[in-house]
Amino acid sequence: MQKTILITGGAGFIGSHVVREFVNKYPNYLIVNVDWLTYAGNMENLQDIENKPNYRFEKVDITYQKEVEALFEKYQVDGVIHLAAESHVDRSIANPMAFIMTNVVGTVNLLNACRHAWKDALEGKRFYHISTDEVYGSVDHGEFFVETTAYDPRSPYSASKASSDHFVRAYHNTYGIPVVISNCSNNYGPNQFPEKLIPLSINNIRNNKAIPIYGKGENIRDWLFVIDHARAIDLIYHKGTSGDTYNIGGNNEWTNIDLIHLLCEVMDEKLGRKKGSSAKLITFVKDRAGHDHRYAIDSGKLQRELGWSPSVTFEQGLEKTVSWYLNNQEWIDNITSGSYVKYYEDQYKDR
Ligand code: NAD
Ligand code: TYD
Repeated sequence: MQKTILITGGAGFIGSHVVREFVNKYPNYLIVNVDWLTYAGNMENLQDIENKPNYRFEKVDITYQKEVEALFEKYQVDGVIHLAAESHVDRSIANPMAFIMTNVVGTVNLLNACRHAWKDALEGKRFYHISTDEVYGSVDHGEFFVETTAYDPRSPYSASKASSDHFVRAYHNTYGIPVVISNCSNNYGPNQFPEKLIPLSINNIRNNKAIPIYGKGENIRDWLFVIDHARAIDLIYHKGTSGDTYNIGGNNEWTNIDLIHLLCEVMDEKLGRKKGSSAKLITFVKDRAGHDHRYAIDSGKLQRELGWSPSVTFEQGLEKTVSWYLNNQEWIDNITSGSYVKYYEDQYKDR
């Protein structure tokens, strides 16, 4: 094998698409998926590639220094693509400490392991940290997040991601670790856990349950199809400049309420329901604490320097996503039958 790359969080939503992209595209790379399989990790996401000769799975909790060190003793690691994280804002409001442990301590454990393993030979090594646009806070209309926008995290989730971004840059500056960071907007697509807006709404519409819209539904997010994020990660891992940051986004802003109306139309058509029937499920509920109003990414640097652009429109991506969920009902039923029931009750009971 030419290179060994650890992909952390590879059993999660975005990670599984990145693992698939790398395993299929680079048969000469050994891809090691490092994942603790929390509620968000799901081996079913990787069934199609799990027997490939260039793929390995390691069940490791990155918050445990010894487990991370053992990984670096077992493999001659050339690169790390770090996606493992606690990723849901509502859960971070309910339990911030888990976010500090995985997102901050877990990231620093990985950085320390790289620092020691690579101390005599940094050539050809790379630590790629996958981050979020939420570190920049909320942005006014007409303005966009660029790579130099000052950090202003406003939820425990975004504060933990911002902290980990700072550690990654600090290890580059202090120890010379070759790093690259990308900050991406909201992703959607197949395999997303149904705690996030789009899959939760698809699942509720299918089951004729209320679609909970926080506040007035006027908050704005910039949505990107997950496969386009995975393509950007491939490009940045191979061609991004060491020490640099790249913003990734779909140039695709929607208020939550407009997005849900579009989703309802797609669902009515796919389920053969009367036009307008899914929209009747829309229910306005108590707003999220500290709810960021608008995220909007300027991905011009990535487009200009590395030639990336999204491959699908939002309408195409949403259609693919809805089709995937409707054709993979077992996947979502397996998830929503267990501890999800309690999560849902706890999260939505007082709204
Ligand atoms: P996810 O919640 O679907 O998956 C996270 C994965 O990390 C899971 O497989 C989980 O088992 C694993 N994990 C969690 N804690 C771990 C630990 N202590 N040790 C080892 N593995 C652990 O997340 P996602 O939506 O795929 O996001 C992946 C990354 O991308 C995160 O770093 C997130 O901050 C970032 N990101 C996500 C979005 C988005 O819209 N989902 C947007 C921008 C950036
Ligand atoms: P989410 O998918 O949780 O992503 P993030 O908070 O990281 O942007 O939420 C997307 C938007 O949808 C956000 O403005 C919160 C809102 N939202 C709802 O209105 N209802 C819901 O049930 C959820 C989960 C989110």
